[in-house]
Amino acid sequence: MTDHTYRILMNGVTGRMGYRQHLLRSVLAIRDDGGIPLPDGSRVQVEPVLLGRNAERLKRLADEHGVAEWSTDAAELVAHDDAPIYFDAQITAARKDALLRAIGAGKHVFTEKPIAASVADGQELVRAATEAGIVNGVVHDKLYLPGLRKLKRVADSGFFGRILSVRGEFGYWVFEGDGQPAQRPSWNYRAEDGGGMVLDMFCHWNYVLENLFGQVRAVTAKAVTHLPQRWDERGEPYAATADDAAYALFELDGGAVAQINSSWAVRVARRELVEFQVDGTHGSAVAGLFGCRVQHRVRTPRPVWNPDEPTDEDFLGQWDEVPDNAEFGNGFRAQWERFLLDVHLGRPHPYDLAAGVRGLRLVDAGLTSSAEGRRVELPEGGAA
Ligand SMILES: NC(=O)c1ccc[n+]([C@@H]2O[C@H](COP(=O)([O-])OP(=O)(O)OC[C@H]3O[C@@H](n4cnc5c(N)ncnc54)[C@H](O)[C@@H]3O)[C@@H](O)[C@H]2O)c1
Repeated sequence: MTDHTYRILMNGVTGRMGYRQHLLRSVLAIRDDGGIPLPDGSRVQVEPVLLGRNAERLKRLADEHGVAEWSTDAAELVAHDDAPIYFDAQITAARKDALLRAIGAGKHVFTEKPIAASVADGQELVRAATEAGIVNGVVHDKLYLPGLRKLKRVADSGFFGRILSVRGEFGYWVFEGDGQPAQRPSWNYRAEDGGGMVLDMFCHWNYVLENLFGQVRAVTAKAVTHLPQRWDERGEPYAATADDAAYALFELDGGAVAQINSSWAVRVARRELVEFQVDGTHGSAVAGLFGCRVQHRVRTPRPVWNPDEPTDEDFLGQWDEVPDNAEFGNGFRAQWERFLLDVHLGRPHPYDLAAGVRGLRLVDAGLTSSAEGRRVELPEGGAA
C-alpha cells in the first residue's frame, strides 16, 4: 500500500514547545514509527522541514534527527514550497503574520496558542482560513492530558449529577533569574513581547471549560504583576511588564461557577502542577495532569467543624482513584495525529482557529475585567 507523505513546514522548532513537544515527541515520533496507519493498510507519513532564525541551531537539529531540509527564510518557503501544511510555535507576537502568509499560500495550518495577540487579529485569521477553505487547528493539549481525559469520562458518565462548581489551581514558582536561572523564557514576562499570564493561560482555560463543563458566559478577574523585576537569559535585569498571576471567576452556561487561580509566583502544595476540583450534586472529582480521584455522594463523610479538637480525619484518603483503562500517549502527538488525518480526509479539525478566537475573547474579557474592576459578559454561544 502506498504511503501518503505530507511535508510540514515547522516554524519555531528551536523553541521549548516547538522542539520538545511538536518536533520530537510528535512529528518525529510519528515519522519514526512509520507514520499513522489507515484502515486500508496505507499510512499517513510526515516529512518535516525546519524553519527558524538561527542557521547553526537548525542545522544541528536537522543533523541530529535526520531531517533533510531546513531554512532561515520562512517567508520564501511558505510562498514557494509545495508543502501542504504549515505549523507555528514561534513566540506569540510573531504568529499572526506568519499564519496569514501560510493561509494565503493555500496551506493547511496548525498552530500553538494563542493564535494571535488580540480578538481582531484572531478574527482576521478565521476569515482568511474560511475564505481559503483550508483545514486549521490550534493546540488544545490540556484536553489530551490523562487526568483531564479521565475527568471527561467521569463527567460524560453523569457521575456528577448537576455540576455546581469547578476550582482550578495552576502554577508554580518561576525563578526570577538572579541566582538561579528562570525555567521559562523571559519574553513571557514582557507585555510588549506577547507575554502575560492571562494571554497565556486563559486560552487554555477557555477550551478546557467549554469542552468539559460549558461555555464561559461572564468573567471577573484580577491580573497582577507580583514580581516587577526579573533577570533574562543573559543574566540582565529587565522590567517584568506582563501580569504573572491571574485570579478569576468564570460563570458557565448551565449555571456552574468556575474559579481558577493561575500564578508563576506560587509555591506548590498540591499533588500536581494543575488541579481541578469539580463538585456536583451526586459526586465530586479532583483531576490533575495524570490523576483523577472521585468521591460519590454515598461515600461522602460527615465532617464536623470543631475548633477545640485537632481533626484525625484523613480527608485526602477518602477519594477513589479513577483507573486509566487505556494507554495515554503524548497528548500533543495525539492531536497531531488527529490533525493529519483531518487534512488527509479533507474534514475540519474540531479545535480550530474559531476556538482560538473564543480563547482570545476570554483573554480580552479577563483583562478588561481586571483593568476596570468589573464583571464582563461574553457573547452568546461564544461566537468567533
Ligand atoms: N500549549 C502549551 O502548553 C504551551 C506551553 C508553552 C508555550 N506555548 C506557546 O508556544 C509558543 C512558544 O513558546 P515557547 O515557550 O516554546 O517559547 P521559546 O522562547 O522557547 O521559543 C520561541 C520560538 O520562537 C522563535 N522566535 C521567532 N521570533 C522570535 C522573536 N522575535 N523573539 C524570540 N523568539 C522568536 C524562536 O526562535 C523560538 O524557536 C508561544 O506562543 C506560547 O504561548 C504553549
